[in-house]
Amino acid sequence: MLTQGMSETLSIVGAGRVGRALGRQLHGLGWRIGAVTGRSLPTARAAVRAIGAGYPAGTLTRQVLDSTVILITTPDDVIESVAKRLAQIGGEEWCGKVVLHTSGANDSSVLKPLADLGAATGSMHPMQTFGNQRPPELAGRIFGIDGGPIALKAARKMIRQIGGVAVRLSGANKAAYHAAGSFACAHVLALMETAVRLLMAQGFTRRQAIRALLPLTRQTLDNFESVGPRPAWTGPMARGDYSTVQRHVKALADFPPEYLAAYEALSRLKAVVLSSQPAATLRQLDRAFRSGPKGRNK
Ligand SMILES: NC(=O)c1ccc[n+]([C@@H]2O[C@H](COP(=O)([O-])OP(=O)(O)OC[C@H]3O[C@@H](n4cnc5c(N)ncnc54)[C@H](OP(=O)(O)O)[C@@H]3O)[C@@H](O)[C@H]2O)c1
Repeated sequence: MLTQGMSETLSIVGAGRVGRALGRQLHGLGWRIGAVTGRSLPTARAAVRAIGAGYPAGTLTRQVLDSTVILITTPDDVIESVAKRLAQIGGEEWCGKVVLHTSGANDSSVLKPLADLGAATGSMHPMQTFGNQRPPELAGRIFGIDGGPIALKAARKMIRQIGGVAVRLSGANKAAYHAAGSFACAHVLALMETAVRLLMAQGFTRRQAIRALLPLTRQTLDNFESVGPRPAWTGPMARGDYSTVQRHVKALADFPPEYLAAYEALSRLKAVVLSSQPAATLRQLDRAFRSGPKGRNK
């Protein structure tokens, strides 16, 4: 267990983007890295190189148990089976270990096979995107945490050392917490790419389209941060310009159907989360979309 003055040791199961990034940071902060397990030895070796420490393993072995803290950074779908396999490997030796996973969509109950053997289980999910590029900055980032008291204490300690901020998740459904991240990250990416493609259909090069759109998005996000959602809201719906919305609806009929479906869904979402009069705004949208391509045959 992590106690004051005891040297921290960490094993990592899942040698991908998050495992490498957290392993590298924690190693830099003085943690000793034990087994780094991937699905193959070459992946594990590459992760050890990226972390700068650890023992590569191409399959789960007892070496994992040499550490006080075990971080599971596999894809969400295999965490439960990894926990079951680890339980078989260690048996009662799990008593006194801390096991944390980094999934945002699963809570700590997915580690029940290890908790049943006495391990302190929890999760620490960085609200951060880890691409294949350089590991991202983690200082100042929020980590959603859940689990039992000992696991929470260990997670808080790691997060504090990294310079992050731990927030204890108290909602009944952790997947909703994770869906928030999807809205703010990958959904934004899809929206930006859609906007770029619309401009390219008007003769812009990709470079020009990105140059036109990114300042708009950045300014909107800056405004959102500085003045809040409603004052930051601009555009035809914010002005009550529903004839312009109708023109958008007609124009989008020339593109893949998902463009118009997303435009309609997002317009309705704006009515619910941005408008001061959601019901009236939704009625206006009903009229605008009835006059659009779907409604023309009605
Ligand atoms: N990426 C993000 O932006 C992000 C952000 C916050 C949290 N997370 C969470 O962090 C976790 C890891 O995500 P990631 O993006 O780092 O995934 P990733 O890059 O795909 O890495 C997952 C690693 O787990 C390995 N793996 C798969 N099955 C395994 C098994 N049965 N035993 C041992 N290792 C196994 C994979 O091996 P191979 O290389 O051989 O496939 C891969 O190296 C997920 O729970 C995810 O939800 C991700």
